[in-house]
Amino acid sequence: MGSANIWITDLFHFYNKKQVSPTLENINLTIPQGQLTALIGRSGCGKSTLLQMIAGLLMPSEGSVRINAHTVTKPSAKWNMMFQKPSLYPWMTVRENAALGLVFSGTYKDKKDRVEELLDMVGLKDHKDKNVQQLSGGQQQRVALARSLATEPDVLLLDEPFSALDAFTRAALQTEVAQICHDYGITMVLVTHDIDEAVAMADKVVIMNHNPGRIVGSMDVNLPYPRDRNEAPFIELKEYLFSEFEKIDQAKESELEQMAS
Ligand SMILES: Nc1ncnc2c1ncn2[C@@H]1O[C@H](COP(=O)(O)OP(=O)(O)OP(=O)(O)O)[C@@H](O)[C@H]1O
Ligand SMILES: [Mg+2]
Repeated sequence: MGSANIWITDLFHFYNKKQVSPTLENINLTIPQGQLTALIGRSGCGKSTLLQMIAGLLMPSEGSVRINAHTVTKPSAKWNMMFQKPSLYPWMTVRENAALGLVFSGTYKDKKDRVEELLDMVGLKDHKDKNVQQLSGGQQQRVALARSLATEPDVLLLDEPFSALDAFTRAALQTEVAQICHDYGITMVLVTHDIDEAVAMADKVVIMNHNPGRIVGSMDVNLPYPRDRNEAPFIELKEYLFSEFEKIDQAKESELEQMAS
């Protein structure tokens, strides 16, 4: 598992030809192997659109996404995506859901033990034979995580995977997933509009703005894991991100005032 660099080069996207402002404008971003990157920005700035392009679920109008030597044109088991909802099959057990990626790739027989290990690792040791409908939301998201990791991905793409969870479960899973990605050298891209989540998990936070969707800044997070959210360096980084968003809002306001005058 692990070992992928991601290069996003001169990327533009228009969902339809009549759009005046591009959904994504001139995105250039390099994500080195094993780095945990958070894309953060307000609703509608194009975070999910960009993530879907890295996943190969959507092609950009212009520019490219490359993962190692490959230009991304379709999904692959090597770059796995995890969504806000765990999207499990309700009629299957925890084990069957977690094994799904391996079953699809025809490798379940050889890698059965791996599914067992992963379910243990994500805290579902005593739940493997249960139907997924018997699990809580947090437990279901853990099944989805085990399924994403079972195929030994180089890249894990997360689109607000913890936003539906209670604060305690969310914080615990954020820490676990960041730790797992670091341990296995998985390159992670996390989409979020939660500043706390970005600072808790990422090595680098990339700030996006909307209309057009673009990258306007970035911030490195050089804090060891597990991160203490009450310590001064953590709080300072959060405050810095808040202030960057305030600057974006002020710039937008003065732009609107100029247009109105
Ligand atoms: N399939 C689509 N067809 C047309 N426009 C779309 C489509 N998907 C998204 N958009 C538009 O593209 C823009 C970016 O959407 P996107 O979902 O990438 O934003 P986001 O940053 O992920 O927002 P959120 O934080 O609310 O999830 C929005 O203005 C949205 O309305
Ligand atoms: Mg989104």
